[in-house]
Amino acid sequence: MSGAPFSFLHLTDLHMIPEGAPPLYGLDPGERLALAVADIAARHGPGGAAPAEFAVVTGDLTHLGEPGAYARLGRILDRLPMPVHLLLGNHDDRGHFQAAFPGTPRDAAGFVQQALPTPVGLFLMLDTNEPGTHAGRLCPARLAWLSARLAESEGPVFLFLHHPPFRVGISRMDRIPLLDAEALWEVLAPHAPRIRHAFHGHLHRPLGGSWRGIPFTSLRGTAHQVALDLAERETVPGSHEPPAYALVRVTPESVIVHTHDFLDATGGFQL
Ligand SMILES: [Fe+2]
Repeated sequence: MSGAPFSFLHLTDLHMIPEGAPPLYGLDPGERLALAVADIAARHGPGGAAPAEFAVVTGDLTHLGEPGAYARLGRILDRLPMPVHLLLGNHDDRGHFQAAFPGTPRDAAGFVQQALPTPVGLFLMLDTNEPGTHAGRLCPARLAWLSARLAESEGPVFLFLHHPPFRVGISRMDRIPLLDAEALWEVLAPHAPRIRHAFHGHLHRPLGGSWRGIPFTSLRGTAHQVALDLAERETVPGSHEPPAYALVRVTPESVIVHTHDFLDATGGFQL
């Protein structure tokens, strides 16, 4: 590829509710997502200052998985000026999602997993949703799909999955991570040197680091957030820190993740 970065957007944890439903934690996730989409359209469309090829949403598309929430989600996402690739999270309902978004690729077992070739490498999007639990699963069928995609490819790989396979220190979240981390690692380990980055949701926090040498980032959702509260708790510590999306710029040498607080109104100036 040329020296120009390959750019895409990362959004996560939209927690959409149906039109007219009571506010969620004091706000309307639909209004929030509409503001994010308007900001994206102004900045990252074909004529914008930083055009992006597509957007990826790493799960918790809805809060309770109702058909009405997916319908509303579709109406808002239709305003995006680029394609969008959707993953499931623990708050989603696979059946209702597939009914609302029948064109979304899925694997042979019906999981919402897809392999997307790009100029900078293969983007592998995984389905960690498991009915009945807020933790994440990658069952043997899903891992077999991942293993096959890795085996048949060469070159850089980028991973997208809602649940992180690691603990972060926020006690309630640490009880609902990806439970199949060891099995995932067994699949990834032979290919680890070419896995350039993993993108997660679930945490509702801006986080970066590495897991077994693989760099990762997560970011705030477009609605409510999780506070940096490391006390032992039975509940998730919520907060209304600013919502965000991320602009990711990839070159052969670098993966740069710009987190953007799209509601920030503090004003800009030239230093
Ligand atoms: Fe979430």
